[in-house]
Amino acid sequence: MSGKYKATARAHSNIAFIKYWGNTNHDLRLASNSSISMNLRDLYTTTTVTWLPDLKSDTLTINGSTAEKIAIERVSHHLDIIRQQFDIRTFADIESENNFPMGTGIASSASSFAALTLASITALGKSLPEKSLSMIARRGSGSASRSIPSGYVEWIAGESHETSYAEMFLDYDHWDLVDVIAIVSKQHKRTGSSAGHPTADTSILQDTRVRYADQRLQQVKTAIQQRDFEQFAEVVEEDSNLMHAVMMTSQPPLFYWNPLSLDIIKSVREWRLKKGIQVCYTLDAGPNVHCICVRDSVDVVINLLKNMSEDMELRTSPAGQGAYVIE
Ligand code: PMV
Repeated sequence: MSGKYKATARAHSNIAFIKYWGNTNHDLRLASNSSISMNLRDLYTTTTVTWLPDLKSDTLTINGSTAEKIAIERVSHHLDIIRQQFDIRTFADIESENNFPMGTGIASSASSFAALTLASITALGKSLPEKSLSMIARRGSGSASRSIPSGYVEWIAGESHETSYAEMFLDYDHWDLVDVIAIVSKQHKRTGSSAGHPTADTSILQDTRVRYADQRLQQVKTAIQQRDFEQFAEVVEEDSNLMHAVMMTSQPPLFYWNPLSLDIIKSVREWRLKKGIQVCYTLDAGPNVHCICVRDSVDVVINLLKNMSEDMELRTSPAGQGAYVIE
């Protein structure tokens, strides 16, 4: 390879309605169950990759600062997969920017690995079908596979690298759902999802969670198709609770919630069931509560959350598109 190969791509974060937790193959990141998510229009990562023949190793800056060794190693490992696929030995300079500040407790691995995958392949002068990009992004972070397609996305768990990928099932303009993220803690999570997934099978509840995951997935798909918020809300909350039940009963047990998360969870249910506000909650591997609402409920949900804790930060995003090349 000679010359300078450069490209910039953007990918959005996503929030899962049916969660991915646990793998059947950790190296390939083959999920134990299929999952469903919505891309978040207003939370994204923009990544520029420049393949430079003179480099002796990959270099990485995140939001303008040199990344920590552990982050560089993970990114390099992902680029090794791409180098192997395209039979190249060149290293790359990577500049990555998140539009949500680091340390807000909002996971960036999905948007980061989706943007990195698209930028690095485009910078090689190659283009791949969306399905292949999703498969490669999955190797960096399972949820990154879902940040490649647009809108409401299903990641089909599959049984091999070639059968495990995400695809759009409805585009972002199908239903104007909004994620109001209550940032209750900005602390970096002690056990990230990469370290958490291998513990899932130590919980006796994981088998049951996985066994009925497809059933819940079909229910959520139907609810989204029919824009049936009540049906959607019940399944989304149940699925989040099931994942956290597995986390709490694993070895070692993982407790991601804090007291304020639990207060919000209980309040959200009351707001929906007693006041008729169309909002439900879901939590990933952290204490922040994603309050999913219909557009008409956003203002009232924001006010109710602010009343619970004055200094709680909120981030809001509607559904968004998939990963795309900027230049
Ligand atoms: O892609 P990972 O390895 O960061 O795993 C994501 C796991 C959850 O966020 C907890 C659930 C999900 O499906 O996004």
